Amino acid sequence: MKLLVLNGPNLNLLGFREPEKYGREDYLTVVDKIIAYGQSIGVEVVVRQSNHEGTLIDWIQGARGQFDGIVFNPAAYTHTSIALMDALLAVAIPTVEIHITDVSKREDFRQNSYVRRASIDCVMGEGTDGYMHAIDILVAHLGGNV
Ligand code: DQA
Repeated sequence: MKLLVLNGPNLNLLGFREPEKYGREDYLTVVDKIIAYGQSIGVEVVVRQSNHEGTLIDWIQGARGQFDGIVFNPAAYTHTSIALMDALLAVAIPTVEIHITDVSKREDFRQNSYVRRASIDCVMGEGTDGYMHAIDILVAHLGGNV
């Protein structure tokens, strides 16, 4: 099983960015944690981050035939991007949306998620551990043993 973990804009600034909301672990520490978790459960995980919507779309399109599932933190594009939703619907790869914070308890403009309409589930408010939870949901969905 091969999973793609995608991160959207500003997540490269984890650790520095609003640490009271997003925590003090830097992005590379989080990436290492996700990859190590994948290895511990026998799942190959590729982690990517971009600040550019088009790059994220290219990676989603390129995942067709290459990845069995996607864990996606679209960051601010969650709330704005019909194009990312359409890309996920087009490739039809099972996707779990993840947010580090609990967006349901934040500003009104964060209440809509286009990506959720193309996702099998959503994890939020669990900090960066949410990535591991999202992987577990995907593995269970895909018939694994986690
Ligand atoms: C986020 C929540 C989004 O609303 C925000 O724009 C982000 C991060 C999260 O992980 O909590 O950049 O996706």
